[in-house]
Amino acid sequence: MKIMAISGSLRDSSFNTAILRTMAERAPEGVEITLTDISALPFYNEDADVDGGPSVVQSFKADIAAADALLIATPEYNYSVPGVLKNAIDWASRPGYKSVLKDKHVALLSASMAGTGGVRAQQHLKNVFMATLSRVYTAPEVVVGRAQDMVEDGRVTDATTLKFLDRLLTGFVAEVTAGKSV
Ligand SMILES: Cc1cc2nc3c(=O)[nH]c(=O)nc-3n(C[C@H](O)[C@H](O)[C@H](O)COP(=O)(O)O)c2cc1C
Repeated sequence: MKIMAISGSLRDSSFNTAILRTMAERAPEGVEITLTDISALPFYNEDADVDGGPSVVQSFKADIAAADALLIATPEYNYSVPGVLKNAIDWASRPGYKSVLKDKHVALLSASMAGTGGVRAQQHLKNVFMATLSRVYTAPEVVVGRAQDMVEDGRVTDATTLKFLDRLLTGFVAEVTAGKSV
């Protein structure tokens, strides 16, 4: 199973990216999690969204199409989804209702330095994926609060957080597997 991971933060020392890196390293046998860089995507412009759009967008969308599922970890910026992540989803979402995101399995989690762990951004993101007709994995919901205390040297070190991440991945993989077999 190929899972494409996207971080909503471009920051080198991002806690969200650290979580995805950790999950990739702990992925069970047969599951490959690959981190994708969304920093090169231009700002969405419908004028440029013709004939598949810019080449960087085309390869981003091809990667999504080739993946069995998406795994997204996002920070919360001003109570919502960071613009870079929303921008990437907007590119991937076209043509509307029949894009590469349609029927795609998506697992979401959020992490922030606040105790609230980006839960508002995560909730907003779920709403966005309703528009793309994606299959959002809803439980368990993973919210990593005080992420600065859970991550060290670019890896999650907190045992409880690791347990939640493992549980999310196990459940998500089971759901994606079940979806593929029907
Ligand atoms: C523009 C901006 C807005 C932010 N707004 C929020 C917020 O609404 N809620 C929150 O919990 N943290 C907020 N933060 C703090 C982030 O939780 C913190 O920077 C976090 O480490 C970002 O995630 P990252 O480590 O993956 O880059 C904000 C940070 C920035 C830069």
